[in-house]
Amino acid sequence: MTDSTSGSRPGRDIRPYSGYHNQPAPNDDTFITSVGRGTPGGEYLRRYWHPFLLSSELGDLPVPVRLLGEDLVVFRDGSGRVGLLHRHCIHRGASLEYGIIAERGIRCCYHGWHFDVDGTILDTPAEPPTIRIKSTFCQGAYKVHEWKGLLFAYMGPVDEMPPFPEYDTVDHPTDNAPVPFRMNLPCNWVQIVENGCDPIHNAYLHAIVAGQQFSATFKVLPQLDFPRTPIGFLSMATRQVGEHVFIRASDIALPNFGQFPNGANLADRESLGLRPYLSRWAVAVDDHNSFYIGLAHLNSYNNPSGSMAPEDFGVDQIPFIGQTGDRPHAERQREPGDYDAVVTQGQVANRRAEHLGSTDRGVVQFRRMLSQAIHDVQEGRRPEVPRLTAAGPTRTYASEIVVKVPPGALDDPKALAAFGQKAALAFVATDHLLGAEREEATTRKVQDLLAEFLATTAK
Ligand code: FES
Ligand SMILES: [Fe+2]
Repeated sequence: MTDSTSGSRPGRDIRPYSGYHNQPAPNDDTFITSVGRGTPGGEYLRRYWHPFLLSSELGDLPVPVRLLGEDLVVFRDGSGRVGLLHRHCIHRGASLEYGIIAERGIRCCYHGWHFDVDGTILDTPAEPPTIRIKSTFCQGAYKVHEWKGLLFAYMGPVDEMPPFPEYDTVDHPTDNAPVPFRMNLPCNWVQIVENGCDPIHNAYLHAIVAGQQFSATFKVLPQLDFPRTPIGFLSMATRQVGEHVFIRASDIALPNFGQFPNGANLADRESLGLRPYLSRWAVAVDDHNSFYIGLAHLNSYNNPSGSMAPEDFGVDQIPFIGQTGDRPHAERQREPGDYDAVVTQGQVANRRAEHLGSTDRGVVQFRRMLSQAIHDVQEGRRPEVPRLTAAGPTRTYASEIVVKVPPGALDDPKALAAFGQKAALAFVATDHLLGAEREEATTRKVQDLLAEFLATTAK
């Protein structure tokens, strides 16, 4: 008797109507997607600072949060310090979500045990003074850092705490106003990062197939490239749009940070800037839920007409279609957005069942780098990227470059891609500088590069 389920590998039976033979492979690989303490991926993520709440979400009551699979509670005590504690009281487990905030720390509602923001037990009022609980135990606590309206947590081993990385994009251009936001998605965090590693979806999801969400410029199919940077790599697309070359490069920084230009560029005049529109982290709530959280940079470059206001950003709110699941279902079907594409890959996308193409190179590169970094942590090594330093802001590389070229000069796709890559990497060569100085130096470099390319292609 023949086994009708055996034979060719799933997805390789190309006979018409062969669904029976092309079942997806089992989704059994959790190496890069697991986030719990003690799992490979979870231990790796616990070596970094992660934003988890907007400062504006923290009022006069404790807030229950779930982060990296752990149930926690966050509060601001009477003296303004922020505590992030294991949610369940170490006495007998009542939730500190119902704790009473004190001038110093928080007091459990059930029997009054009093904890400082670092987990120290300050008081066990029902116990006789001779009992030594206070000096023997403490409530689990994590360090919190507040920056630009975001609360960040470090949940790893105390001795491995990295410096808190500030980024060079918040103070540039000088009129920049960083505005916090947080968007919830019922799927694993890796899918959110992979969406940023996939610039060809900007052409299809955001311009050609689902609707005109980005500018018409994005209908032009680009050359893709993913060159390495000191913090990760660039996820970049280079297009010839009329008489201009438009180079759009997003930062992918390990483990979960990304910076993205907006989708409005018409590429109809020359410009060059180190000016992402969004800086965002993809943060794991648990294996099956995440949020992306970060800062929108409202300034004269990203928001020249002032059409976007700080009030347009918040929790589950961003002024771009398709970022939440709260639109009517039929409307989401007619014009799907990132949320609909990314969440429907599955709570944890089945990477074993994929059939990757040449345009998925960025996704593959991210997975390789992520796997390597997880292995490094497993073996007690510090991952090679990102190199974070406490001295000065961490340099980033996301940019948009539009330059005019003579007709036909960069018609060869290889020459176009090569120029795009070199021009985007000019920001790496100038990363000893900051702000306007760096942009000026980069502008000169890009102009020289273009002159070189034109001289070569004219030969
Ligand atoms: S359960 Fe918290 S003090 Fe008893
Ligand atoms: Fe997108």
